[in-house]
Amino acid sequence: MITINYPFLMNLCAAQILLVFGLLLLYVIYQCFFSPLAGFPGPFWAKLTKLYRAYISLRGNAHRDFIALHRKYGNIVRVAPNELSIADPKAFREIYKAGNKFHKAAAYNVVQGTRSFDLVGQRNENIHSEQRRLVARAYSMDSMVYLEPKVNLVISQMVEQLDNISGQTIDLGLWLQLFAFDVIGAISFSKPFGYVKAADDHGLFLRIQNSMSSIAWLMHAGWIFRLHQTLSPIFGDWLAAADRNGHFFKVATQEIEARKARGGDSKDILGQLFTAQEAKPQLTDQDITFMMTSNVFGGSDTTAISLCAVFHMLLKNPDAYNCLMDEFKERRSLGKLSDPVTFEEAESCEYLQAVMYESMRLHPPFGMIMDRDMPAGGMNISKHHIPEGTVVGTIPWVIHTLPEIWGSDAEEFRPERWLDKENQKYLSEYHTTRYILIQDPGY
Ligand code: HEM
Repeated sequence: MITINYPFLMNLCAAQILLVFGLLLLYVIYQCFFSPLAGFPGPFWAKLTKLYRAYISLRGNAHRDFIALHRKYGNIVRVAPNELSIADPKAFREIYKAGNKFHKAAAYNVVQGTRSFDLVGQRNENIHSEQRRLVARAYSMDSMVYLEPKVNLVISQMVEQLDNISGQTIDLGLWLQLFAFDVIGAISFSKPFGYVKAADDHGLFLRIQNSMSSIAWLMHAGWIFRLHQTLSPIFGDWLAAADRNGHFFKVATQEIEARKARGGDSKDILGQLFTAQEAKPQLTDQDITFMMTSNVFGGSDTTAISLCAVFHMLLKNPDAYNCLMDEFKERRSLGKLSDPVTFEEAESCEYLQAVMYESMRLHPPFGMIMDRDMPAGGMNISKHHIPEGTVVGTIPWVIHTLPEIWGSDAEEFRPERWLDKENQKYLSEYHTTRYILIQDPGY
């Protein structure tokens, strides 16, 4: 007969609990006082776990949360045990300079998933450059300008639809989203998706939104994503993040097949990728489908948000709206505006350009930190040394409202700040949309 020694078991349990608490305490003491990043301020929980960032992303207000964190803790904030959010103009230029050694951090593994061809998620700089070279021409500004008539078609459909519902209260944000998606369809596959005509997205936007939100928090809880990937052959997909390479890959595949069947302009983005494939067969059909998935998944929403920002800011700022209308009237009276306005004409409207920059400054479509790994040797910012291996990055929403860059009226919508030529050159360097467009030959 076995006799159970209860006092002994109780003591064993108590010892184990004490051990766990002791280890946790040591971990907390290490992270708060001895870790290489211990000297950087930040929220208590962020010092202990990456889940703090996952939580912030999950709440869906990360762009504003990070502004608040920087206001509270200063220009460098510890946002995870090994991660810093940096709001410093010099560091920003250094981290995101083209061709530097700050490579994309591990969080991007979640974006890439199992994709073999993914410019957004690809962390290996050599592979990234090679892949980008294969597709760069299709995304060049020349190509976009060539595709202008296809965008004009969507513009006329949109104007017609808005005329039909004139006088009614509408959700302009939704209409701009329908428009942006149709534009992406038109330039990618020579045919709009038909959302503007149908005044309906058939549930696609919500699915993209859910998937993006899911990716945003999983990037900081990569182990959950890896667990999902391991179990999905048995249990199927249970995370919306999987839609990027699952459902939307299928959408792109169907669109490609339909475009092949009906034909189209050989210079739409898909046509150009097929042309590139003839010269460089290493660009596979699957790679092309991945690129078109990115267009549908990543290109439409960003464009829609940018458009919404412009309209929102103009509606909120009647003076700017009136200035813009004056510019249009003047140009039109001089015969310098066609209907619809051409890309070239729009580019020469200085106030319009300023309005677009200013809107995307105050409401950038990208609301997350663009995480990068600190290369060998680390980096000095002010009097701090940031060791190599630290994950560093900046969120557009923070850099876009830094008074050191934009002045004391950083929060104000003032397109005029872009009209001073000297100022414009300087400010452009910190406008992330412009910065990315300039440095990324993919565009
Ligand atoms: C205003 C509109 C847009 C904004 C603000 C925007 C924003 C961005 C940002 C911030 C990145 C870098 C992400 C990172 O490093 O973490 C990126 C990359 C990318 N975007 Fe966009 N995007 C826009 C429009 C588009 C459109 C229309 C397309 C496709 C038709 C597109 C396709 C891509 C691709 C392929 C990359 C990866 C580029 C590379 O790394 O080589 N984007 N975009």
